[in-house]
Amino acid sequence: MIYSKILGTGSYLPEKVLTNFDLEKMVDTSNDWIVERSGIRERHIAAADENAATLAEKAARAALDTAGVDAKEIDMIIVSSTTPHLVFPSTACLLQEKLGIAGCPAFDLNATACAGFMYGLSIADQYIRTGAIKKALVIGSEVMSRVVDWSDRTTCVLFGDGSGAMVLGASNEPGILSTHLHADGTHKDVLYLPQTTKSSPEFETVKMMGNQLFKLAVNTLGSLFDETLAANNIQKSEIDWLVPHQANMRIIEAMRKKLDLPMERVAITLDKQGNTSSASIPLALDEAVRDGRIKRGQLLIMEGFGGGLAWGSALVRY
Ligand code: UT7
Repeated sequence: MIYSKILGTGSYLPEKVLTNFDLEKMVDTSNDWIVERSGIRERHIAAADENAATLAEKAARAALDTAGVDAKEIDMIIVSSTTPHLVFPSTACLLQEKLGIAGCPAFDLNATACAGFMYGLSIADQYIRTGAIKKALVIGSEVMSRVVDWSDRTTCVLFGDGSGAMVLGASNEPGILSTHLHADGTHKDVLYLPQTTKSSPEFETVKMMGNQLFKLAVNTLGSLFDETLAANNIQKSEIDWLVPHQANMRIIEAMRKKLDLPMERVAITLDKQGNTSSASIPLALDEAVRDGRIKRGQLLIMEGFGGGLAWGSALVRY
């Protein structure tokens, strides 16, 4: 039996930090409102010369380093990003060039939004399990600060920039136990980002019906956990860690309760990073792995949920 094992993780956050107090000076909001309604205190903002590919390179190099894997061993690159630098070539191709590993397949998942990392992980896992490839780089990389309307308080306080990466490798030992992907286009209007083109009336930015999205997230993710546990025939008491998409602390809290986990067993970066869309799950995982909280052999459940709607989970023996 071939499994995909997480060989290493890495991440990168731009240097500039924008706090809620900074935002108070930009829009009609308050630190108290943002903390109470979302749990976010600050977020990182990319510099003018940074983009999804440069962020991805830093996260990828850190993951390769931790894994002890040479970039030349990578058989496939998957980058999830809703905020690519170019429509094409893909961010994955730009990254491939930076890593100097021309030849292997490299592609982006750009429309799976906040669920993108789960989609990337699932695709890489299928290729590894079938023996088609041995090692893959899966990355979420986002510059959300370039697609929010900085005069709209309902969205601009929520998002941040960053990149998280993972090196997956074929192993005889259990690693990724199962992945579960879903989408429902009937909810296309609750969260979307139109493309800016020559005929666009103005520069297009993220549009969100926050309240509806919140309810959909809580209900959908609850069922997703049931599905993930049932597929593996395990009880929630066997889960060691929840590594969730970081959109809202109240959503994460509902998921924690659903799994009966103490808050110390949830990887949280939302307070310091905001919602980094498809980068949030690998960013949270990398932090908890690096500071020693998540240990080898522990059982992790990961979930992502966002525009599409699209959502997905993974059960992983780390
Ligand atoms: O990553 C993809 C998935 N994303 C999500 O799942 C996000 C889900 N949604 C959310 O996280 C929450 O809905 C938000 C944090 C976006 C908003 O929280 P909420 O409790 O749903 O607030 P609301 O949208 O119902 O707004 C409540 C009030 C409104 O005022 P009125 O109409 O009650 O007078 C808003 O205008 O808060 C007002 N408001 C703000 N006030 C201060 C909205 N944004 C702000 C703000 N500062 N930044």
